[in-house]
Amino acid sequence: MSRLLLLNGPNLNLLGNREPGIYGADTLESIERRSAERAQAAGCELECFQSNAEHELIERIQRAPAQGTGFLIFNPGAFTHTSIALRDAVLAVRLPMIEVHLSNPHAREAFRRRSYFSDIAVGVVSGLGALGYELAVEAACRHLARGARA
Ligand code: DQA
Repeated sequence: MSRLLLLNGPNLNLLGNREPGIYGADTLESIERRSAERAQAAGCELECFQSNAEHELIERIQRAPAQGTGFLIFNPGAFTHTSIALRDAVLAVRLPMIEVHLSNPHAREAFRRRSYFSDIAVGVVSGLGALGYELAVEAACRHLARGARA
């Protein structure tokens, strides 16, 4: 079965309480549960990992290929705008990746407009709140199914 890894970066463990006007009322736990259900319905398996620490995210990405992961779905949080090291980790493992943001960073402060991930992503989903994760899961499963047929 195709395996996806959903990664969330710093402060996303606070979803539900964190600036709900921007990020919505859903907790990360409920987002992960719905994403896993969506993956299962699409014939994929979803594993989830959140960390506030850059090195833990890097180590999780580095381990992903050996653990059978075929696709990354990644909300790097504020690391989106700062982390060349995480970008390099994604490039190093050569796994396809969809970048997800709950908010639309382009409609916010200027410093959020630069992403170190968008140009290496298969696609970017932003501004659609928690639904964006489910849409990314659906797209990732289809991408893997296309690859398996080809
Ligand atoms: C975010 C957007 C980032 O700019 C911010 O630092 C986050 C969350 C989003 O999901 O909208 O932590 O990635």
